[in-house]
Amino acid sequence: MSDQGSGYAAASELRGRIDTTTPHSARFWNYFVGGKDHYEVDRQVGDQIKEIFPGLVDVARTSRSFLGRVVRHLAVEQGIRQFLDIGTGLPTGDNTHEVAQRVAPDARIVYVDNDPLVLTHARALLTSTPEGATAYLDADLYDPAAILKAAGSTLDLSRPVALMILNTLGHVDPYERAQGLVRQLTDGLAPGSFLVVSDGTGTSPGMIAASAAYKESGAVPYHVRSVAEVTGLFDGLELLEPGVVRVTEWRPEPDAVPAQGRAVDAYGGVARKV
Ligand SMILES: C[S@@+](CC[C@H](N)C(=O)[O-])C[C@H]1O[C@@H](n2cnc3c(N)ncnc32)[C@H](O)[C@@H]1O
Repeated sequence: MSDQGSGYAAASELRGRIDTTTPHSARFWNYFVGGKDHYEVDRQVGDQIKEIFPGLVDVARTSRSFLGRVVRHLAVEQGIRQFLDIGTGLPTGDNTHEVAQRVAPDARIVYVDNDPLVLTHARALLTSTPEGATAYLDADLYDPAAILKAAGSTLDLSRPVALMILNTLGHVDPYERAQGLVRQLTDGLAPGSFLVVSDGTGTSPGMIAASAAYKESGAVPYHVRSVAEVTGLFDGLELLEPGVVRVTEWRPEPDAVPAQGRAVDAYGGVARKV
């Protein structure tokens, strides 16, 4: 694990880790949210999936809008000043620290991803306000103990933290493993902390076909889950209203990114550790 709060991995070492022959989640997702950090192989499978299921564009864009509303809610209404964002993805408009520090300049954010291209872009995630702090960990979701230990250099884990895992747990197989990882992470957080999860769901034939095509491409598969499975990730925690709902229905604001006329196949929620 390397902590990019203090230094950068050697460029040549990073280039060696970037695989341009297989689609990668962060780059594929960046293509869907309208970013520019992707390779031909990501665009090819992206275009194929857009043909099969154009609704995935909605899932990606409305999920980013969900992130913004949740972070604002947690900072403004719940007084949260610490965020641990695992499966960060490539920087795009309104990353967690930008949303949080706009309303709470003293907010501290730790980003975690295991994709080398995200690591090369980490500098864009480290533009903190002077009052707050941001750090980037090149680390694996499958190692919660290491994440918590390293996050503790930037965050005070004896105080509440918002743990955010958005559109990432579908990569964890089987489902019970994802549940276990979430439990290990939340066990390491103080009472008053929050868990934020969103995930693509197998709630339409198109979304199921998109997930199958993505797996077929050779990428690390994304397992679309049932709504009950997404809800089960919050077991033992106290869900905030309106519970686990389509991401477009979680406390919508007038300027929330709208879906293009179809129900979005992604569910999310926010829950408090009591
Ligand atoms: C679909 S993207 C979601 C990005 C962002 N959270 C969002 O919602 O826009 C999934 C991210 O999870 C990261 N990821 C996948 N498996 C991971 C793992 N085992 N450890 C850390 N990050 C992982 C990928 O590199 C990618 O950046």
